[in-house]
This record gives sequence, C-alpha cells and structure tokens, in this order.
Amino acid sequence: MTLASSIASLPAQSARPVIRTVDYLRISITDRCNERCLYCMPEQFSDWTPREEILTDQEIIAIVQASIQHGFKNFRITGGEPLLRTGVVDLIAQITRLPGVATVSMTTNGTRLPELAQPLFEAGLRKINISLDALDPDRYFQITRGKVAPVIEGIKQCRKIGFPSIKLNTVLMRGKNETEILPLIDFAHEQNVALRFIELMPLSLTEMLNESNFLPIAEVMEMIRQKEELLPFPTKLGFGPAQYYTLKERGVKLGFIGALTDLHFCDNCNKMRLTADGKIRPCLGNHLEFDLKPLLRPQILHDQLQEIFKSSLREKPLEHQFRNQYQPQRIMTAIGG
Ligand code: 5AD
Ligand code: SF4
Repeated sequence: MTLASSIASLPAQSARPVIRTVDYLRISITDRCNERCLYCMPEQFSDWTPREEILTDQEIIAIVQASIQHGFKNFRITGGEPLLRTGVVDLIAQITRLPGVATVSMTTNGTRLPELAQPLFEAGLRKINISLDALDPDRYFQITRGKVAPVIEGIKQCRKIGFPSIKLNTVLMRGKNETEILPLIDFAHEQNVALRFIELMPLSLTEMLNESNFLPIAEVMEMIRQKEELLPFPTKLGFGPAQYYTLKERGVKLGFIGALTDLHFCDNCNKMRLTADGKIRPCLGNHLEFDLKPLLRPQILHDQLQEIFKSSLREKPLEHQFRNQYQPQRIMTAIGG
C-alpha cells in the first residue's frame, strides 16, 4: 500500500520561503461515522473508541482555551462525522462564544445538514465544508455507502440560510470519480459555492490507497482546461493549503489540494489537530502525538495544558512523510481530516 511512487518522478520545484504561523486547530469530536468512504473506513468497520475515552465538552473547551494562550484563533470541528455527536450544536455555541476565538468552521459529510444546518447557524457556525465525491446517486453510494440526496438538500439549505462560506470537498480517485468532476463543477456553479479537489492521502488502512487509484491534481486541471480556461485566483480562501483558480467564463472558484504532488504543500502549514480521544497531533502525516488525557483526568490541569501547546508547536514537523514510508497506524476518523 503506497502512494509514494506516484510522485517519485516529479520535477524539483523552486524553493519558496517557509513562513508558518500556527493558529488553526482542527478538533475531532467523534471517531464515528454513518458513511464508509472507500479511502477512509473499511466497510465493516465498527471498532469505535469507547465513549468514555472521547473528550467531554468541558475538556474540549479547556483545550481550546489553552490553545488560545498560544496563538490559536481559528478552529475547525471535524470527525468522523461531527454531526453524529450528541450535543454538537451546543458545543459549537460554547466554542464560538469563547473570547479569543476568531472563526469556527466545520467539515461534515453533510448527511445530517437538512435538520442541523439551521441550529448550527444559530449557534454561530458560519463556515462549512461538505464532502461530495460524486453527484450521481449510484457513484456516490459506491464511494460512501450512503445516499447523496440528503447531502444535496443540506447544501441547498446552507445556501438558503446564508452561510457566508460553503465549500465542497471532492477526493480524487482514478476509476471512481473522474467522470463526476465536470458535473460537480456545474453543480458548484449552479449553487455558487467553491469546489476543492483533494489528492488521495495514505490515511487509513483501506485497499483504495494504492497507486492505481491515485489521480494527481495536475491531470484534473488539464482535464478542466480542455473545456474552459482556468485563471489563478489571487486571494486565499480560508486557511488551508489549497491553490485556488476560477473558471474564466463562469467564475466558479476551484481549489486544488495537492497533498502528495505539491512539494510545497507544507510550507505554509498553519494547523495542528486534536484527536477525539485527546491527543495533539502536530502533523497529519507524522506519528508524533502529545497525549493530553493525563492532564485532563482526574482533573483538568490548565497550566500544564498550556505547556503541551508550547512543546507541540516547537516540535511541529516541517513537512509530512506521505512521500516517504508513512504507514497509517490508526484510521483518519479519530484524527480529524
Ligand atoms: N485522502 C484525502 N482526503 C481524505 N479525506 C478523508 N480521507 C482522505 C484521504 N485518505 C477527506 C474527506 C473530507 C475530509 C475530512 O478529508 O473527504 O472531505
Ligand atoms: Fe465518514 Fe468522512 Fe471517513 Fe467518509 S471520509 S467515512 S464521511 S469520516
């Protein structure tokens, strides 16, 4: 299982200065999911973290507060599927109200948005990324084992409510969803939302993660250019590593996340992750983790939580190891994409 050889022959890129201000924490609030994406979870997977090992709301809030003392100000709630956590709306409301929090966003598979989009907006959520790997219901089912209709309804609902930032995420898989790329662009145009294409990363132990399924962003850009002109989009949208373009004629904003083929992918990395069971993970593609549990239970040790942020910032790797010999040890869903 390796994606590394896919990029072995890439030409060297010119050096860019490395400027990193780490102020963005992605918080996984559950490792559970109601879908089974080919690249994420084996279909029969049900080896969830026991509930008592998942951080409580109070523990998450204490960690967010400690992180704020070390410069973190942007927070993204992820999973698993974050909307499966009981009390998620209230948790979002608590985080958005904390002094020092600039933005709170969420990445979701969208399946529960029809009923939760409105309460989430009322709780203060303004930025939402929704995974959408295919529009065709059969394709969508093949990839996720779920139904696309509620996701589409959820996206429409978010637009109607007026979320100021809505982005769709599509993971690229050769032989699985290339034929969906142009229809997804038409859909993003029709809905007036941004669409981002993400290269497959070796994040789980599923069979999908091999070289024959890897579809590089350069190939997708070329496919799009055959139809329409792409113009580089000067402003960054959000805080992630996507390179943005617009379609000249239709103005659709397209993001390209070259996690493996962009050799400068890590240059401006501004994030760290908090796993659902309380570990700080400075880099998605590196096994280094700092366990916060001993500082949370039996009681929360606020000063020592801050110390951990200091160490994790100091030891944040300069780049991921996806192009080397990185072997995932636990599935993505506890780490929080
Ligand atoms: N490679 C690339 N992207 C992935 N995601 C989940 N697993 C992978 C993977 N192996 C994406 C999901 C979602 C976000 C949380 O991360 O599609 O958009
Ligand atoms: Fe669930 Fe997201 Fe993993 Fe798909 S990628 S199985 S939606 S956690």
